[in-house]
This record gives sequence, structure tokens and C-alpha cells, in this order.
Amino acid sequence: MSLKSLVSLLFLAGSSIGAAIEPRAEEPVYPKGVTWSADQPPPFEYAHQEVNLNVKPSGGNKSHPLLWGIMFEDINHSGDGGIHGQLLMNNGFQGINPGLTAWKGVNDAKIAQDKDTPLTTAITSTLKIKVPKDTDEELVGAANTGYNGMPVRKEKYNNYFWMKGSYKGPVTVRLVGSASQVVYASQEVQVDSSDDKFTYYETSFIPEASSDGNNEWQFLVDPKKTAGQTIHLGLPQLFPPTYKDRKNGLRKDVAEFIEELHPRFLRLPGGNNMEGNIPETRWKWNETIGPVENRPGRQGTWGYANTDALGLHEYFEWCEDMKMEPVYGVWVGATIGGPIVEGEELKPYIDDVLRELEYILGDKESTELGKLRAQNGHPEPFNLHYVEIGNEDWLNGCEQYPSRYKSAYDALHAKYPQLQYISSVSRFDPKCYPKVADDVLGDLHHYLSPNDMVAHFNEFDNWEGRIIVGEYASTTNNDGTFTRFSTMQGACAEAVYMIAMERNSDRVEMSCYAPFFEHLDMNQWQPNMIINDNGPNTLTGSISYYVQKLFSNHAGEETLPVDSNAHFGPLYWSAMKSGNKHLVKVANYGDKRVVTNIMIPGNPANATVDLIASDDIVWHGPLIFNSPLNVKVQTRTLPLEKKQSGEFVLDLPPWAVAAVYTD
Ligand SMILES: *[C@@H]1O[C@H](CO)[C@@H](O)[C@H](O)[C@H]1NC(C)=O
Ligand SMILES: *[C@@H]1O[C@H](CO)[C@@H](O)[C@H](O)[C@H]1NC(C)=O
Ligand SMILES: *[C@@H]1O[C@H](CO)[C@@H](O)[C@H](O)[C@H]1NC(C)=O
Ligand SMILES: *[C@@H]1O[C@H](CO)[C@@H](O)[C@H](O)[C@H]1NC(C)=O
Repeated sequence: MSLKSLVSLLFLAGSSIGAAIEPRAEEPVYPKGVTWSADQPPPFEYAHQEVNLNVKPSGGNKSHPLLWGIMFEDINHSGDGGIHGQLLMNNGFQGINPGLTAWKGVNDAKIAQDKDTPLTTAITSTLKIKVPKDTDEELVGAANTGYNGMPVRKEKYNNYFWMKGSYKGPVTVRLVGSASQVVYASQEVQVDSSDDKFTYYETSFIPEASSDGNNEWQFLVDPKKTAGQTIHLGLPQLFPPTYKDRKNGLRKDVAEFIEELHPRFLRLPGGNNMEGNIPETRWKWNETIGPVENRPGRQGTWGYANTDALGLHEYFEWCEDMKMEPVYGVWVGATIGGPIVEGEELKPYIDDVLRELEYILGDKESTELGKLRAQNGHPEPFNLHYVEIGNEDWLNGCEQYPSRYKSAYDALHAKYPQLQYISSVSRFDPKCYPKVADDVLGDLHHYLSPNDMVAHFNEFDNWEGRIIVGEYASTTNNDGTFTRFSTMQGACAEAVYMIAMERNSDRVEMSCYAPFFEHLDMNQWQPNMIINDNGPNTLTGSISYYVQKLFSNHAGEETLPVDSNAHFGPLYWSAMKSGNKHLVKVANYGDKRVVTNIMIPGNPANATVDLIASDDIVWHGPLIFNSPLNVKVQTRTLPLEKKQSGEFVLDLPPWAVAAVYTD
């Protein structure tokens, strides 16, 4: 086989790995001046130097076991309409001026938000449905169009609702195509509803699958039985199957996609969404617990209502179910741009954090709030070791942060000395860094262009003290334009930064990409790691998702030194040991193909590579991205060729990221 046909064969097989290209041409192996078709793209030009990586058997540092995790806050409908299972939008009329968002009348029924007919003291409005007097329709009622539609699959959906109004007979709940009017599911529930109180009902159905996400849920009554009357619908909920079958749980498909990241920790409950715009609109832990009909919800920081159905218990149960360590943020006076609460005025809020920790950690018998937690379904204390004091306090309230931190730390540490406290500010911002205790663990956030991210490669090499990187992402392109979905180049830059963290993972204890999820057409920030829409097969990993997954699924316990004939850039690498296995990560932040010869201690017979790369770069450049139904880049797993001299050969395309590992 000629060299040319070998290379093109590997290319067509979707692989640029393992080519035993020796001797190898310095210039592109295809002759110049040929017009290439999509079937046979030209190869990338080779870098002039091959890079030798000689991994040493020992001499590194311990790596922190929690290095790779995730961060959650409700932004871009990542909570309601995202990971939380409930599919009906505005079901409890929460937040500011909800109006009839996502609601419409069906077959001449007049509907309204009724503030005079609350379901509970928390759910202060219900849906009023006025049934027409003269109608030929068999069924009338209301429809909820969800978070811009809803997924309809052939799986079990649970319906829950309260009803008030004089009506005895069948209520029909359905899933219907909003444009097509195709009825995918229809179920009758016999109700015996009265005028004086709300009565609770539940039912389920298994619909036929819809080919798109443009669907609605309908609640219908027989107009003959109730002509001219008014009925009320309270807090209806619709759940597809949930993760681990939890009641009021996470969406199974979304949660399992996240689980594939093998996250070690969850930083929660946000972010700016924990802070609020003013103190009154902060995330209030005690309004997110208990039955959902007792949770008032709030206007979140990102411009839409949070139902808080995804509340404190759901967060901690999510951690339990995915075996993640919670990294729990508490409020200490800073809002996002609003007033700062400090000094004596902060004390009641710190007392509230103490109550919050008692609720999470208190004994079910000897503490009042531990008892309440048990009543709410979790007798044992939740697992909690990390508490972050505030969020991004280098922004608003920087000057007072050291004193706010100290007040909170002193009170919390006195009661819970076993917890590790995290300063939301790191040494990076000396002006607001609270150097009040030796065990301060700082939090650093970076939203950067790819080049700037790569320029931070040495950031931790001489870092003093311990650090977490609680949010980071490559958010713009190098020309300053905004990145809608993470690009190959941006994700590669993130990989370079992850290599920087991994090399220093004795001091970088945790890191998480942010934000981690978006509802495709209801988002406010980009890029996000995971994208979802309501149609079939639209749950999508950005390229950054695959990079996160690659690092997290190939984590090690110990770093290893590497000797090389090259300096860092454009190729970056790190080596790790996990038991007897060896792991080498490489990122090629450059537009040339780089041949890498990797020598692994013990001279193992085999090695495998997980490769994130795309030949599409030839045609479209390094700003290619994944979007729903157009996933260009995923991880490929391939065996590596071994030279007689013992090195594994990894022929790395431009902008590629790879993890090489032994059995
Ligand atoms: C281990 O830590 C030391 C001290 O920070 C550092 O000089 C060395 O480069 C680290 N080793 C590796 C393999 O990263
Ligand atoms: C939540 O806690 C605050 C502070 O202790 C208290 O004022 C408020 O009434 C509580 N809210 C609920 C719903 O229990
Ligand atoms: C996602 O959320 C951010 C924060 O509110 C907002 O600025 C951005 O416009 C949203 N994205 C879209 C496409 O709506
Ligand atoms: C490992 O390499 C040896 C020798 O090259 C080969 O015989 C064997 O099948 C390989 N094992 C695996 C699991 O690939």
C-alpha cells in the first residue's frame, strides 16, 4: 500500500490515528493543486517537529479526587424546562406578572389567571376556565404549550392536578400536536369536584411518539355538564419518566446524559441565581422544600420565574443519585448589582444560613430542623462537606467581602468545624480576598477567548494555596465575536486549560465548566455545555461536553512528569497514573497535524486513544460546532499503533483533544 493510500484510507475511516508513517513527508502528502471532493479531503499540513513524550514512572504529585465536576444554576431554562422533569410552563403562576404565559383556551373556553382563587398560601393563583353556554364542541378547556412545546415519546407520563368547581364526570387530559392537532395520548379521569375546595387527581398515559416538539398538554371537560360555569385548575404537572424514578424528579434522559460526564461534585444552587438582584429576591432555601404546592417560587435572576420544584431536596438527591459531593453556596449579603448587606445587618442572614445547615445536617430527633427534613422525606442528614461563602464577591461587594466572609466563617465554623469553607474570591483578586484562616480555599472563574484561555496555561504552576475553578468556559472567538455553541477551537483551548489544572491538581482541587445546560430556544447565555430542545433526539453535547467527559472519565490519582523534545504549545500534555494504568492527555491548539510519540512506563503492549477531532475542519475551519441534529464532533475510540522502539504513535489532527490510556 502506498503511503498516500494508507493515509487516505485512515482518513476515510474517520481516523487519523495510528498511521505508521515512517518515513514521513514534511509537506502534505497529497500533491498540491488538486481539487478535493468531500469524499476525499486533503490532509492537514504536518507540523515540522514530531513531539516525543516520555512519561516518567514516578515523581509527580497526588491529584485531587474531586477535580472534575459540574456547576448548576437555573439559567437559560436549565432547571425548569431543562433538567427538572416537569413539562408544563407557568403551571403555578409564579414569578412577576406570569399572566397567561404558555396557556390558551381550547374550543371557545375563556381562561384567566385567577388571583382570588389560590390553591395554597404559596400557589396564589389558579387557572380559571369559563365554559361556554352554547357550543357544539364535545370537549372544552385549556392547553399548556410547555417550554416552547414538549417532548412526546412512547413512554409513561404522569399527570397531577387540583380542581375546584362543581363538576361530576370525566376530565380528559391529552397530548396534542399544536399545529397538527394529532392526538398522541388521551386519558379520562372521573372527577367529583366541588365548588368549596380543591381536590387532587392524578393519572397517567403512554402516548404515541410525536415527530417534533411542537406539542401541548390539554385539560378538557364536557361542556354539556357544566355549560356557562367556571372551573379552576390548580398547579397541573406533567412528568415523563424521571431519573431513578424519583417523584418530582429530574428528566431521565437529561440526567443520564449528565451522568455520562461522571461528575465528582455539583456546585449549587447557582451562581448569580443564588444571589438575586436584591436581597429579597435571593434564593431562599426554606421556600424550596416540602410539597411543591407549598413552594411559592420566585422571579429568578435570569429574567424568568423559577418554580423551585427543583429545590433543596432535589439538589441533594441528585448528588446522592450521581454520587457527587455537593459544593453548596450560601448567601452572605451580595446581590448581583443591587445593595450589599453587611455588618450588623448581615447577622440575621448568617443566622438563616445556620438554620439552613441545621436543616441539611441536623439530627432527625434532636434538632428542630433535622426533624423537619425527616418529615419532608429525608430522615438521614444530607451528605455535605463543602460550603461556599457567597458567589463571585470580587464583583459587587468586593471591599466588604473580607469582613462578610469573616462574620459568616466564624459563625459557621464554630458550629460546623468539620466543613471545608470556600471563599468565593481567590488570591487572583487580592483586594477582596479574605485571608482570615489558613484553610481558605478560593474560587476562580474565567470566561475567555480561546487564545486567552491558552495564555492561562501557566496560571497554577506557581499558585500559592488551594483553589477551585468554579466556573470557566471559552465564550468568545479570538476575533471577539460571541460563541453561540462551543467551537472545536474553544473546546481545545478549554482542554489546554484542563491540562493546566490536571498538572497542578494537588492545588486545583475542583473545576467545573459553566453554564452546563440550555433549553435551545429559551436561553440567555451562550455557550452552554449541553443543549436540549423538545423534538426527538435533540439532546446534544457541545464539543465542550465531549472534552469534559474525556477528562473526567480518564482521571488519575497521581500526576507523572514527562520529558519531551518540545516545549508546550501548540501541543499541550499531561500524564497521570491510576492504579497500574497510565493516562496521557494531549491537546493540539494549532492548525497543523502533530505526530506524537508516547513512551509509557513499563512498556505496555497496548494503548487506546479517545479522540475528539473532526475532518470537517478542512472544509469549515476550527469554528465548527455541535448543535441539535447536527453533531459534527464526538469522541472516537481507537487502538494505537506501537513502534518497534516502544513508543505509541498518535497522529493528532489540528485542534484535536485526546486521552491515551493503557489497560
Ligand atoms: C509536583 O509539584 C511540584 C511542586 O509544586 C512541582 O514543581 C512539580 O512540577 C509537580 N510535578 C508534576 C509532575 O506536576
Ligand atoms: C424562611 O425563613 C425565614 C427566616 O427565618 C422566615 O422569616 C420565613 O418565614 C421562612 N419561610 C418559610 C416559608 O418558612
Ligand atoms: C441565556 O441567558 C442569558 C442570561 O439571561 C441571556 O443574556 C441570553 O440572552 C440567553 N440566551 C438567549 C439566546 O436567549
Ligand atoms: C495487545 O497487543 C498484543 C500484541 O500486539 C495483541 O496480541 C493483543 O491482542 C492486544 N490486546 C488487546 C486487548 O488489544
